[in-house]
Amino acid sequence: MKEIKFEGLLLAPIAGYSDVGLRKVCSQRGADITYTEMISAKGLVYGSDKTEDLLHTTDSEKTKAVQIFGCEPYYIEKAVEHNALQKFDFIDINMGCPVPKIVKNGEGSALLENIPLAQQVVKAALKGQKPVSVKFRLGVDDEHIIAVDFAKAMEDAGASAITVHGRTRKQLYSGKANWDEIAKVKKAVKIPVIVNGDIIDKKSYDEAMQITGCDGAMIARGALGNPRIFSDIKGIELPNYSLKKDILEHWETLLLYHHKNYVLANFKKHIAYYTRGMRGQKQIKLDAFNAKSTEEMREVIERFD
Ligand SMILES: Cc1cc2nc3c(=O)[nH]c(=O)nc-3n(C[C@H](O)[C@H](O)[C@H](O)COP(=O)(O)O)c2cc1C
Repeated sequence: MKEIKFEGLLLAPIAGYSDVGLRKVCSQRGADITYTEMISAKGLVYGSDKTEDLLHTTDSEKTKAVQIFGCEPYYIEKAVEHNALQKFDFIDINMGCPVPKIVKNGEGSALLENIPLAQQVVKAALKGQKPVSVKFRLGVDDEHIIAVDFAKAMEDAGASAITVHGRTRKQLYSGKANWDEIAKVKKAVKIPVIVNGDIIDKKSYDEAMQITGCDGAMIARGALGNPRIFSDIKGIELPNYSLKKDILEHWETLLLYHHKNYVLANFKKHIAYYTRGMRGQKQIKLDAFNAKSTEEMREVIERFD
């Protein structure tokens, strides 16, 4: 089993975005660990092609994690034994997703309210003979911040590391991530702790690491449209950097693994981020949105500086 260093900079699991292309480009720009978007354990067990389509990886990814979600230990165990997960270095379990459809099923952040079941889920995932980590939020709402107890319970169940998003379920993505609460978690457990939430540049990274003392930092939205955030935080100089080259690599990687119609539809969302703050962005976004073929989309990408 590969020894995992839970440290450095991590590209977060981002449903609809942390595809094989984004993971490749972010790895090349310095991301140490990359995560697939959340994958349904049950979906995998029942053999959904759509689920397996999310599991492509490239050799550029240094340490690869697959994130699964589910609340039934039976399906978690079956999922981690699935062939398609064997190429991943470790398994991350989603216990933070606030989306009602997920929570209603007892999955994602619903597990914050059922610590014994959350522990059973971790133990079931360990049957896959790989390290298991857990990503979760501070609690359900401000009145129920349970991150310290939850972290200890995950450690006791056998998790190798945890990632804490410094928001509650109720907050969704509003307000500011609470790094002080993550600092308490870091002090309470021996396993590595990764800080997540509102790290968007070197300044916020330094502040988050200084406040929390965490082992590493996970970035989600800050990497969308800006894969070089990892090099920037690490202080790696990129002479002659070209965003266009990164966008093209992202695009071409997706085309290698997915059907072109799927790529065309999905890439429009990425273009919205890649054009952020750019001059003439409205027109580029509009043209990308109206692109009817991969050739037309490529022409749009060629217009980036
Ligand atoms: C569009 C979107 C999709 C997300 N999908 C996932 C997911 O699949 N699994 C997960 O654990 N978190 C998911 N998250 C949460 C992020 O991983 C991260 O915890 C959150 O965005 C805070 O980090 P940030 O401030 O760096 O964006 C998602 C967030 C966004 C905005």
